Amino acid sequence: MAASRTQTTARAARFMAFVGDRQTEQTLRNFILDEALRHTHVGLGGVNEAIAHITKVGWSPRLLLIDLQGSTMPLSDLARLAEVCEPSVQVVALGDKNDVALYRNLLGIGIRDYLFKPLTEELLKRTVDLNDGAVRAVPQTRRGKAISFVGARGGAGTTTIAVNLARFLADSTHRRIAYVDLNINGGAACSMLGVRSNHGLSEVLQNVERIDVAFIERTMIPIGTRLFLLSCELPFGTAWPFKEGGIKHLIDLLTNEFHYVIIDTGAGVGRLSTEAFDNSARVYMISDRSVHGAHETVRLAQYVEKRENAPVISFVLNNTIPCAQGNVDKDDFVGAIGHSVLLEINHENKILAIAENVGEAPAGRAANAFVHSISQIVNDLVGRKATTEARGCRLNWWKR
Ligand SMILES: Nc1ncnc2c1ncn2[C@@H]1O[C@H](COP(=O)(O)OP(=O)(O)OP(=O)(O)O)[C@@H](O)[C@H]1O
Ligand SMILES: [Mg+2]
Repeated sequence: MAASRTQTTARAARFMAFVGDRQTEQTLRNFILDEALRHTHVGLGGVNEAIAHITKVGWSPRLLLIDLQGSTMPLSDLARLAEVCEPSVQVVALGDKNDVALYRNLLGIGIRDYLFKPLTEELLKRTVDLNDGAVRAVPQTRRGKAISFVGARGGAGTTTIAVNLARFLADSTHRRIAYVDLNINGGAACSMLGVRSNHGLSEVLQNVERIDVAFIERTMIPIGTRLFLLSCELPFGTAWPFKEGGIKHLIDLLTNEFHYVIIDTGAGVGRLSTEAFDNSARVYMISDRSVHGAHETVRLAQYVEKRENAPVISFVLNNTIPCAQGNVDKDDFVGAIGHSVLLEINHENKILAIAENVGEAPAGRAANAFVHSISQIVNDLVGRKATTEARGCRLNWWKR
């Protein structure tokens, strides 16, 4: 039932418009009628109303027409809007300023076009790309990012970190997140997220020639409105059922629909995880402070560094057991791997065990330190410091 709900919402409102005045609204409604466009939503308002609506329904359209009339900071407003939209959404802005500098700036941040009011049906026909009465997806300018999480050894806390990062991104930054659990015989992500696994990932990878976004959406398990899980639980001993290239195709499709595709590759290197590394923008390597963890981190890093796509690698130390004498010293760990460590996560007494077993996010004051650690990974991931503008907004978001 959950899957069919996802599918229905996904197909809804492929063309959405928020405009500031009744006359423009009427022009749009005439255009929609004339062109027999289905799956549309036209509302009165501007960026704020669009953000509220998209946040409420949990899905963004294929094409969004947004009225900037009255906006004193159009670029910042669009940056806020981008935060709640899928990467694949195409945005056309509308306004009353015939300003070349503004037009250039809008195109510079990935807006497809800027229409000067008054809006006419003719202008819309020239701008909106139609195909059999529906808005056609035009060539992509933006894509989400695939991020792999790998453990230097089993039990290093890879799933705990990846799941909580996915939750954080979905809940606090309102990004749309796909979580792909490559532990095909059953990983811990499902129980950490409080759901039962299905055959989703296995179906997708076994039908790789004919999968499309709708196919994948049907197989994903929704966790709230912005986080979607793709996993499977193949019986132990099943012969290897997958062909090569499936993960690449899957990542290609998912990065078109989601801001972040979080891939839990498990520990070490396997057939699926190699494909995941090959198609990821970043790889987070998780280790405990053991000699074996340090040794395996070095080997893993050497392996991933040689991948042709050269993903950015970040190292995370996680204390799954209380810090004990006999653990490798942090400086020695850094010396051994020859790279700095992004952060070290403290041992958390009880809260992670409770959260895992009830299938919910760690909560309450006791969880503050862990949540803070996750937020540091989020900062690293979104490059918050590097890419924010003086005004504090992500102006190049539409182009990602
Ligand atoms: N910082 C931490 N403090 C305390 N316990 C932790 C910490 N990080 C993870 N754990 C616990 O360690 C256990 C193993 O975590 P998790 O399943 O995330 O590891 P993993 O590396 O994904 O394991 P696997 O190799 O089985 O996939 C879990 O019970 C989790 O709650
Ligand atoms: Mg795991």
